[in-house]
Amino acid sequence: MQERLQELQTEALEKIAAASDLKELNDIRVAYLGKKGPITEVLRGMGKLSAEERPKMGALVNVVRETITAKIEEKQALLEEEAVTAQLAAETIDITLPARPINRGNLHPLTRIIEEIEDVFIGMGYAVAEGPEVESDYYNFEALNLPKSHPARDMQDSFYISDESVLMRTHTSPVQARTMEKQKGQGPVKIICPGKVYRRDNDDATHSHQFMQIEGLVVDENISMSDLKGTLEVFLKKVFGQEREIRLRPSFFPFTEPSVEVDISCKICQGHGCNVCKHTGWIEVLGGGMVHPNVLEMSGFDSKKYSGFAFGIGVERIAMLKYGVDDIRHFYTNDVRFLKQFNRFEV
Ligand code: PHE
Repeated sequence: MQERLQELQTEALEKIAAASDLKELNDIRVAYLGKKGPITEVLRGMGKLSAEERPKMGALVNVVRETITAKIEEKQALLEEEAVTAQLAAETIDITLPARPINRGNLHPLTRIIEEIEDVFIGMGYAVAEGPEVESDYYNFEALNLPKSHPARDMQDSFYISDESVLMRTHTSPVQARTMEKQKGQGPVKIICPGKVYRRDNDDATHSHQFMQIEGLVVDENISMSDLKGTLEVFLKKVFGQEREIRLRPSFFPFTEPSVEVDISCKICQGHGCNVCKHTGWIEVLGGGMVHPNVLEMSGFDSKKYSGFAFGIGVERIAMLKYGVDDIRHFYTNDVRFLKQFNRFEV
């Protein structure tokens, strides 16, 4: 019996030493020390021993059991430590590696300008309106006091779609007529309308066959030219700086009477004259005027009761002046080296 115990101990210790993971070690524990294991079996056989031998044997069994248990614990600690070391090695993160840069997009410069201008006008109580880019001859021309034979139609060479009654809008002014029609002769009207417009121009540094405008329209009782001037002054100073001056020059549009071109004092030379302002000290930024009574009437407004002003802003022109861009084509060729300069956090 004693021999058998020695044998079991040697065998168990060899297996413990050879165990390569915690699962194997646990299997060994169950096999040798478990209720069905050989040591328990030896204990069961002790009943047959004499009274003197029994305590000796009992003590020996305990020694063997403790030896095996101690070795298992020792090995378990070792294996656990090895497991942690292996995991650490496998999951090491090199925190000294620089992070990959995140490529963040930014708003297109024209979008930025439009949003900025919208904010200024929304602050003055305007609503933002929209209209279709494919427009009927009626809204693009006729409702704006430009009948079929009118020579001023030549001011805006058009892209026609099917026949001469459907075209790409040449300006955002048709939204004036559309908005007033919806109001059914009832003022006030106070809107701006940003959007794309199309003209049969040859593209160069200052012309593009497609560009952006922002239309403005105010119709109410007692609207006068001074309202137009005051509004544009507030708008232009907000966008270009409080120190800018504005001036109105007489002009002609069929849908406004009187009509004006609006200039701001040149920021680059402070009005002294330079290349950008063609040595005049002034830069033209938009056109506008008092809504022509014919336009009011055609869209259902009583021109004896109501008057209004309208203006059209060339968005690219504003963006070019504000950001110092020298070629309108930059806005449409989508070179990321250009576009990236208008990061919202830097400009
Ligand atoms: N629609 C005109 C243009 O495109 C601009 C304008 C708008 C002028 C409103 C007067 C009033 O040139």
